[in-house]
Amino acid sequence: MFTLAHLSDPHLAPLPKPHWSELLSKRITGYINWQRRRRFIHDPAVLSKIVADVQRHAPDHIAVTGDIANIALPAEFPRGRDWLESLGAAKDVTFVPGNHDVYVQEAANYAARQWGAQMSDDDDIAGFPFLRRRGPLALIGVTSGVPTAPLLANGWLGTLQLAGLAETLNQLKTEKLFRVLLIHHPPVSQAGRSKALLDAPVLLRIIAAHGADLVLHGHDHLHMINWLNGPNGTRVPAVGVPSASAAPGTSKDAAAYNLYRIDGAPGDWQCEIISRGIAANGEVGEQKRFRLVG
Ligand SMILES: [Fe+2]
Repeated sequence: MFTLAHLSDPHLAPLPKPHWSELLSKRITGYINWQRRRRFIHDPAVLSKIVADVQRHAPDHIAVTGDIANIALPAEFPRGRDWLESLGAAKDVTFVPGNHDVYVQEAANYAARQWGAQMSDDDDIAGFPFLRRRGPLALIGVTSGVPTAPLLANGWLGTLQLAGLAETLNQLKTEKLFRVLLIHHPPVSQAGRSKALLDAPVLLRIIAAHGADLVLHGHDHLHMINWLNGPNGTRVPAVGVPSASAAPGTSKDAAAYNLYRIDGAPGDWQCEIISRGIAANGEVGEQKRFRLVG
């Protein structure tokens, strides 16, 4: 039995005080949005409770699917590193970036420098897609975060990364591991075009051709499950979690995370999902539990 915890979109708060010169970019709209709305949603006390609950369950591995940062100020990256390190050793924590982590062009470099230990493969080599083998799992990380125009939150994987992903998924077929794809943007979403993963149709074709056992994402800040087509009539669950810092009572789901208990063998995998989240009284507890696979 292997236990994987999945949390996403911590959006660490409070926002560090920006220098005026740092706002001469898309960051200005994000800064206004933070001051007007988002700072009332992302509560560090809520995030601390969620993380404490994750730790109490002692998962074998923790996956975080993006959006540690808010407007990708330089000061958000070392703080994000401290937060990632607080979750556990880098070998036990895997991270993929979200659109808020790559809010402006230079931010991809900040992320690589500060969070590279959680975004590298089995040989500690950085780059996307990366592959980490942990117990029966193959964790495959891709980055869908790209800088966009103001007010857009699109994702983009790109031809090179998609080709690498297809090759990785194909090669893994012989290893008989439970393949978990980590991506910030959902492959399927009801959110509008302005938030969508623009090359999702290609990703869906790759999953249909090569398969995967589980896709984990964030971005929409909601509990989500969509079943994707895999090869030979199989179906692949794509599961999203709310923001790990979302205070109860806002327009999106309150902070939660999922535990996956994975057991079995190729052709006979069993995977139970346990959602744990924060209730209106501020307590973190189990919200639902069911057999996702097997
Ligand atoms: Fe987010």
